Amino acid sequence: MIRKVYDWVDERLNVTPMWRDIADHEVPEHVNPAHHFSAFVYCFGGLTFFIVVIQILSGMFLTMYYVPDIKNAYESVKYLQNEVAFGVIVRGMHHWGASLVIVMMFLHTLRVFFQGAYKRPRELNWVVGMLIFFVMLGLGFTGYLLPWDDKAFFATKVGIQIAEQVPLIGGFIKILLQGGPIVGAGTLARFFAIHVFFLPGALLALLGAHFIMIRRQGISGPL
Ligand code: HEM
Repeated sequence: MIRKVYDWVDERLNVTPMWRDIADHEVPEHVNPAHHFSAFVYCFGGLTFFIVVIQILSGMFLTMYYVPDIKNAYESVKYLQNEVAFGVIVRGMHHWGASLVIVMMFLHTLRVFFQGAYKRPRELNWVVGMLIFFVMLGLGFTGYLLPWDDKAFFATKVGIQIAEQVPLIGGFIKILLQGGPIVGAGTLARFFAIHVFFLPGALLALLGAHFIMIRRQGISGPL
């Protein structure tokens, strides 16, 4: 039955070459953990991506209950955590995943660094990786404010104070981040928009570039 549907679609749209182009690649000998124990280091990039997918899916469900204004944010998170079916699990996944994804990304970066995989011809992918790194830190920073509890409020205050120390443009960065003279309603609305629209959009675009480049260049050779 599935085969028939597939053939029907394939006959009309010729989809076979599309997925074959993605799926039909042999894993090079030196990245195959069945042959070399140390090849597990090549999994960190894929594991990072796996957690990114979990973050996006769990985040989409959190957004169904989260209310991004200073009167309701805290209560909406409390409700989600204590009353909503599976809310505690979905929030827990997003909370722990946020830290785990940074750990995985760090391990991936260490692998690339210590194998010298960033060298010619992969310099541009290292640069894209650095941009991804800052986007991921931005996601962590903006997400931390959203529960609007004391910890969130004061962590953001401190974070913005640190950004303010940048010479010459510090004051400008502060207002840009804060969206007003204090950490308040403007900040929460702004951080929410950045957390769920701006940065995920940038991340997906950058990951697209990351993967296209890996595809073009292949994985770096054995040491
Ligand atoms: C969300 C974050 C990231 C994801 C999901 C990701 C994903 C991946 C994947 C799946 C690969 C294929 C090889 C492997 O898995 O090791 C890869 C390769 C690579 N990544 Fe990342 N990456 C991320 C962040 C970074 C960062 C922060 C850097 C460096 C600053 C970086 C630099 C590179 C380079 C240079 C390669 C090519 C390595 C080679 O050919 O051996 N990536 N990435």
